[in-house]
Amino acid sequence: MMIDDNAQILRIYKDYNGLCTATAKEIAEQLQRKTDSVLGLPTGKTPMGVYQELIRMHREEDLDFSKATTFNLDEYLGLSPQHALSYGHFMEVHFFSQVNLQRKNIHLLNGMADNPEVECREFDAAIERAGGIDLMLLGIGRNGHIGFNEPQSSLTLATHVARLDDSTRDLYAGEFGSREKVPEQALAMGVLPIFKSRRILLAANGSAKKKVIGEMLSGKVDTLLPASLLQLHGNLTVLVDAEAAPE
Ligand code: F6R
Repeated sequence: MMIDDNAQILRIYKDYNGLCTATAKEIAEQLQRKTDSVLGLPTGKTPMGVYQELIRMHREEDLDFSKATTFNLDEYLGLSPQHALSYGHFMEVHFFSQVNLQRKNIHLLNGMADNPEVECREFDAAIERAGGIDLMLLGIGRNGHIGFNEPQSSLTLATHVARLDDSTRDLYAGEFGSREKVPEQALAMGVLPIFKSRRILLAANGSAKKKVIGEMLSGKVDTLLPASLLQLHGNLTVLVDAEAAPE
């Protein structure tokens, strides 16, 4: 394990609260250094506490998002942002509606796009026009996916239409009512815009993530564990709670 060699890469916090507070602080410091920062954002259970802390800082400490730009990692193909299980809806409820981001600066992949391929190309072009992502916040799937870049023999650099792994659809079956109802495809930010982010924070909590965190920092790179690629990034920090900390 490379953790000793890369002591700066892995930070372990006592619990989920500590993890979220520290992650939110990193994002706040980025915004204070550069008010017009470009942020890459995930959905999921992991970042919920981070968003709550950022909202608190906005309300109580005047953390300002008015000049910031955001790009979300993914969206289910076929779901509109109004759909209760869409990622657009998640972001609206848990973050966007509670901070002072300008609507024009929020970028979400449109799961209902007439032409999803064009949607993906335009999304990448918008990231380029914004000057690339300053700070990318990532979660990690139990199978090592980042965004919806699922384990595969090769990974796609550009933002693309991705097929969800069976294991991922199993995990979301509860939310959707059954595995069959979980969309089979999603629009997923590609590995390249993720990788070109100037700084990457990957957050994980809970014992279900312990194994994959150990594997992604094993010193080996494998497209069957997409997060392992991040070891090649020069400015990665993995933030975990004690339960997700590898041996
Ligand atoms: C979602 C995303 C996914 C999640 C991952 C972990 O936008 O990027 O890669 O980060 O599936 O999800 P949670 O946090 O729910 O365990």
